[in-house]
Amino acid sequence: MISRRNFLKHTSLFASGAAGSAVAVSAINLSAKTQSDQYHYHLTVKAAKANIVGGHITDILSYNGHVFAPIIRAKQGVPVRIDVTNELDEPTTVHWHGLRIPVNMDGVPGTGQVPIAPGDTFTYYFTPPDAGTMWYHTHENSVDQMGRGLVGLMLVDEAEPLKNAENEVVEFDHDIPVMLKNWHLNKDGSYYKISMKRYAARQGTPGLIYTANGQTDFEYDVKAGQTVRLRMVNTSNTQMYRLNVDKPELFKHHPLKIDVLDANPLDYDLAFKDFALGAGMRIDILFVVPDSAGQTLTFLDQHKPMFKLNILANESEKRASSLPVIPKNPVIVGDLDKAEKIEIVLEWAAADDKNGDPLFWNLNTQQGFAPASCKTPNQIADFKLGNSYLVDIRNNTQYPHPIHFHGHTFKVLSYANKDIQPYLADTVMLEKNEAAQILIYADNPGMWMFHCHVIEHMAMGLVGLVKVS
Ligand code: C2O
Ligand code: CU
Ligand code: CU
Repeated sequence: MISRRNFLKHTSLFASGAAGSAVAVSAINLSAKTQSDQYHYHLTVKAAKANIVGGHITDILSYNGHVFAPIIRAKQGVPVRIDVTNELDEPTTVHWHGLRIPVNMDGVPGTGQVPIAPGDTFTYYFTPPDAGTMWYHTHENSVDQMGRGLVGLMLVDEAEPLKNAENEVVEFDHDIPVMLKNWHLNKDGSYYKISMKRYAARQGTPGLIYTANGQTDFEYDVKAGQTVRLRMVNTSNTQMYRLNVDKPELFKHHPLKIDVLDANPLDYDLAFKDFALGAGMRIDILFVVPDSAGQTLTFLDQHKPMFKLNILANESEKRASSLPVIPKNPVIVGDLDKAEKIEIVLEWAAADDKNGDPLFWNLNTQQGFAPASCKTPNQIADFKLGNSYLVDIRNNTQYPHPIHFHGHTFKVLSYANKDIQPYLADTVMLEKNEAAQILIYADNPGMWMFHCHVIEHMAMGLVGLVKVS
């Protein structure tokens, strides 16, 4: 029954998308699932060819052969199984970003699992404790493998049907996931260097070709009065998007706001304006399509278009009355009064590792390691299971760093230089010379990665391990 519902959801999601690729895209998403099992997927990691930049063919690394990887649709509290076969000629892993699952399923080579060797299959099996917008990506040779395409979306449906504020069961008319990624491609579809030293030592090497769901011109049709859950996921290697919409005035009665951040609903209004979506971060925005048939909403990175929603007329009498409310996840928040204080400092460095590769970044004056095969990052903290930690993360550099912690959801309490309301997240954005105070409740045992999600920064030192035991 659930499979069928998902089937229909996906079909309707993509059937009204950009005409040219609608069929192909819905086919991709269905092919990931076997008929018999509800939440059993097969991913084959392999080289493929994709048409990303109009009319040109790019060699990519793919999940199941497509530039827009299968959406893994799971359900909160229900086991999911993903068989991953590696058809590359190098090892790979899959990390499930945002999922609080056991460390041996977390996809980190060296600390969590043995990388999947060429020709091998590894089965990931876990039960998502939380619902929401998650994603997956390789954690092996990440600058290159992610840069060439090994990223995908994972959407975990809420355990219970969604309800509105009046406690009535309601569904969104549209659930639109948007996988944002930019590519290090020239206009002819060929790659330029995914990592260049002069950028790696700064904000990260920029990708110049912007895609949404693997397309440079993704668009999707909605009707006036319909309800929308629009999810945006930053799967780029380096890019920090400054999210905007071109016609905010169409939402004058109910200004667009960010309702969910990193799969956790916010309990205050955060305006959808110039929002800094760092690598790894996700937002959901929930809204009723304004009564402006014929208009197009263009979502922007600053002024650069990323994708479009076309507003069509709605002939039906049936109009949305109310939006579903996204329930909170069962996250235990740490106890601030009992929390032990620790400091983590991010710094710029100019050093080389023993192979002569640059290590431009320091974490607590240590140079972490690229999590390439056999290189295990340094341990930076030792947490006791069941204890709370107040972590002061200080970005003493001139560049932004989205800092991600595996296996846990933490509470962002405050920033040094701006006022915020506390919220839950797994990735915290630190703009230049900013500091953030986060509260971690250590409830998942293991050796967990703590790193900058600008993948080049991670590979060049901005990474450490936190032990929870
Ligand atoms: Cu998406 Cu180690 O991260
Ligand atoms: Cu992660
Ligand atoms: Cu960084």
